[in-house]
Amino acid sequence: MAIAEARIIDPFALLDSGGTIALGADAGGTERIERTLTGLWSRAMHGESDCQSVYRLSLSNLMVLGQAGDEPALDAMASSIASQHPSRVLLALADPGARELTATLSASCRKNPTGSGVICWEKITLRFPPDEEERLGSALRALMIGRIATIVVFALPTDRHRALLRRIRRWADLLVTQSDELGAVPDLLFWDSNGNRKARCHWLDRRWESTNDVRTGWAARLREPDAASLLEQADSIVCAGPDATTIRLLLGWIHTRMSWNVISSPDSGVVRIRRHDGSRCRLRFEIADTFSLTLSATDSPPLVIDATDTGPTAVGAWDDPVWVDRMLGAIHEDAPAEVFLTAAGAAYRLSEAAAGHLRLPRLTVSPDSDALAARAAARFAELAEEAVAAHGVFRVALAGGRTPEAMYRELAQPEYRARIPWDKIDWFWGDERWVPHHHSDSNYLMARQALLDHVPVDQSRVHSIPTDRNSPAEAAEDYELVIRQLWGERVWHTPAFDLILLGIGEDGHTASWFLGLELDSSDYRFAWGGYVPAIDANRVTLTPRLINGARHVLLLAEGSRKAGIVAQTLYPNWEHRHPAARIEPREGYLEWYLDRDAAAGVDERDFAGGRWTR
Ligand code: 6PG
Repeated sequence: MAIAEARIIDPFALLDSGGTIALGADAGGTERIERTLTGLWSRAMHGESDCQSVYRLSLSNLMVLGQAGDEPALDAMASSIASQHPSRVLLALADPGARELTATLSASCRKNPTGSGVICWEKITLRFPPDEEERLGSALRALMIGRIATIVVFALPTDRHRALLRRIRRWADLLVTQSDELGAVPDLLFWDSNGNRKARCHWLDRRWESTNDVRTGWAARLREPDAASLLEQADSIVCAGPDATTIRLLLGWIHTRMSWNVISSPDSGVVRIRRHDGSRCRLRFEIADTFSLTLSATDSPPLVIDATDTGPTAVGAWDDPVWVDRMLGAIHEDAPAEVFLTAAGAAYRLSEAAAGHLRLPRLTVSPDSDALAARAAARFAELAEEAVAAHGVFRVALAGGRTPEAMYRELAQPEYRARIPWDKIDWFWGDERWVPHHHSDSNYLMARQALLDHVPVDQSRVHSIPTDRNSPAEAAEDYELVIRQLWGERVWHTPAFDLILLGIGEDGHTASWFLGLELDSSDYRFAWGGYVPAIDANRVTLTPRLINGARHVLLLAEGSRKAGIVAQTLYPNWEHRHPAARIEPREGYLEWYLDRDAAAGVDERDFAGGRWTR
């Protein structure tokens, strides 16, 4: 594919576009890391970037993870950086002597470089037993200040902390790891200047296939019809070659590129994978003099691909035009050239437009509840029209509770009857009380009475949460099946609703995600059902994973009773990571529709990056 122009991609620019990048730190460790980060901040702060990184780096979560033995060096690096750039410092130390995860809070101050003042910062030091990664990951996520840049310095051996690294990768705007572990951060994500995610590629496979001509040739051969179809059916893939590392990289490339789920990869060198259709395959490698790949399936002759690979070559440096050219070429397989170049161009242009796009929530504050209902209804109609125009359907999950009812009645008015494409809407519910659908507490009944019984919906496209099953858990499983069947998504994809409507309780719950429920974005389910201790009742609810996968989330709140929790949610901090504060659409947008009373605790200036309409 002809590439208009191979740009030298500037890793700092990628951060400006909101991309997630990995910078290899040489074996020297913290010195290079500090230089890299300080260089980033100084360039961002001194006008070399008019883009969102200036805003995003005005305050950041600086997360430094390392071994307890390295504490002095890591602490010195973190202090050096934090004393120049306001940060919340999270210093997490793997401590073999620690019996449990502990956290201490301290503050440090240091004269600023000109001596004219003092910069102070808080530091939270966590010590964790090396096998407590999961809890550490949760603690770190909870300690982060939401919606600002997160810089992670991962000075732990990545081969022993892959699970933690995989989790952190999702949060990091900039992840600095050891040089030979770039593959551990498989995603390169690019947003365009409007903040829409435009290109994504698996770093691992791009890195592997773009490091030398032979591997580029292997990748091309595996995309040819005979090999591509056998990859989908093979029950055994054997890779032979003189170098175990290269073979592992090739097998890693295959199951990453094919998006297969690794079931088990025992040290014996056999990787068992499951494809999206449930079929399984064993990937294994053997040491041999020459490189060959054998794909075998029960009902077809094995296919052998061989080529003499020159073996591992150094990973291309960011400023190696040949390597960048290869990577751009490989990435184009995933993302059409114009999309990728737009995204890379946006990163390169550091356009003003991106500066305004912080992916902060957008706030619409209305003078009273009637105006709130009217504006939320107008936004609903707008999103419905956009979705149907874009992909022929509008899939929405309705909220329960009292607040949205006025909006639903508004939508039932004549002005929307002709405007909204009612027959192209799939209706879902964000949550449901465990009562029959004719019960006065039913969210289904409320939506029917306020809206659905008054407009020409396609009844076959109304998907209520069943409350006639043996248990809420069974109802949740059935609801998940309805979602999967409708989207036809492969097991690991999260369906993207066009719109999910939410309310918020004074305790910070949203949908039926209440405090104390063991639910968070890493939970793989789409729906959850069960007993909710906080309200001593059974509920069924969509999960954070599904909610945060939506293209748009509209969160409605009205009345002075909600002012406190709205403020705590829009200014999240690590004590108040209640459910509503953890609604952060991964690729979509979060929009708040408030009346003036509910917005009393929010300062308009803090949300200029979004849209503030009074
Ligand atoms: C429910 C809702 C719930 C609701 C909040 C706010 O089923 O009750 O899903 O999350 O949105 O409790 O309720 P109000 O809008 O009535 O304040």
